[in-house]
Amino acid sequence: MEYLEIEGGNPLCGQVCIQGSKNAALPILSAVILHHGTTVLRNCPKIIDVIYMLEILKDFGCCVSWEGAALVIDASRLCDSQVAECYGRQMRSSIMLLGSLLGRMKQASVSYPGGCVIGERPIDIHLAALEKLGAVFTETPAGLKAVCEKPAGTMLRLPFPSVGATENVILLAVLAEGTTILENAAKEPEIGELCRFLNSMGAGIEGMGTSKLVIAGVKELHDTDFTIMSDRIVAGTYMLMTAAAGGDVLLKEAPLEQLESVQKVLWQMGVRQEVQEEGLRIQSMGRPKCVQEVCTRPYPGFPTDLQSPLLAALALAEGTSVIRETIFEARFKIVEDLCRMGANIHVDGQHAVIQGVKQLKGAELTAHELRGGAALVIAAAAAKGTSRVYQYHYIARGYENIIRDLQSLGVVV
Ligand code: EPZ
Repeated sequence: MEYLEIEGGNPLCGQVCIQGSKNAALPILSAVILHHGTTVLRNCPKIIDVIYMLEILKDFGCCVSWEGAALVIDASRLCDSQVAECYGRQMRSSIMLLGSLLGRMKQASVSYPGGCVIGERPIDIHLAALEKLGAVFTETPAGLKAVCEKPAGTMLRLPFPSVGATENVILLAVLAEGTTILENAAKEPEIGELCRFLNSMGAGIEGMGTSKLVIAGVKELHDTDFTIMSDRIVAGTYMLMTAAAGGDVLLKEAPLEQLESVQKVLWQMGVRQEVQEEGLRIQSMGRPKCVQEVCTRPYPGFPTDLQSPLLAALALAEGTSVIRETIFEARFKIVEDLCRMGANIHVDGQHAVIQGVKQLKGAELTAHELRGGAALVIAAAAAKGTSRVYQYHYIARGYENIIRDLQSLGVVV
């Protein structure tokens, strides 16, 4: 079985250029099929989930090509609206094709995305919201069949600011008859980026960055050439890796304005952060300080996707910290691996109490999902001695080239 072998224990030194945002690219790739024409996307991250999404678009009949760093997709002719079972189950974001397939083809069939190790991942909020816009769902043995003859704008409110459900409503509302007003919409920056992308194609979306989106349906969209913003979670991962291992790191293209909640926690941990001409400079000498309590929250709160990386960094902090996970029900899976490295962490339901230790020692570790895998890499880079991270393909779902990035920070991998 493939593994990453990491020689940990030395402070980081070097720089990383932060890739394009995975969680902006995926809904944008779904939105591409709303337009009977060509879309040029720049700074699209070359990660496994994007490769899967491009395969699905090709299955629908899209012409997809990389022209240098630019991704060119021609969605003029679509011949199918069935998300192949193999891809549907592979990744959560396939459910985000529901809204755009219904908007373009008036029908869709997807397999249930299925839960994953971080939680059940239900889609009830998606289905209830899309039904309000006119979608009708029937269960089939393979998954879900949907039709929506005439998408009609309406007023609706989400019971919880679900990122994916917000994106699905936007995707179906863009070409609907009339205006849709969506209340309690998620405010993650990736939602704003999807709206900016769609508006660059002629959509009429207002309220970006707020929990009330107003989407005026339009008849059709036009070609666009759009550059995707940087990935705040990848940037946060390397900020927390520097907190854990110590060192002096420069992050180029980091989306500063989206990292306030993470920067606040890092200042509490005694990590210096300085905005410089070339990027964000992160400096950490010795052990990080502990933090009273960090709760994961919908944006602009502390992101759940950085909860595991923070857990790994706090394992080495001076003192006791508490992390509360309020978004997913099973996102402390890496605690067992961290304890085998010598960490002292106690999980009680949605709470983790972390008594920082002076040192972690290298161990055999196994990734079970994307951000937990990234957190194990953080622990391995900070630990004394050699670690092996098995199943690290999970990490490639969200990080373009973790080996390249680690080596550019001076980690022996
Ligand atoms: C998006 O997932 C991200 N994925 C996740 O990132 C991220 O952790 C999450 O938002 C929260 O920020 C992508 O953008 C591709 P939600 P999503 O719908 O849309 C419950 C990563 O590592 N819920 O906001 O699935 C759900 O179970 C990934 O990049 C329902 O109950 O998140 C969860 O507990 C991991 N019913 C909570 O809401 C629904 O219909 C948040 O889910 C939908 C969601």
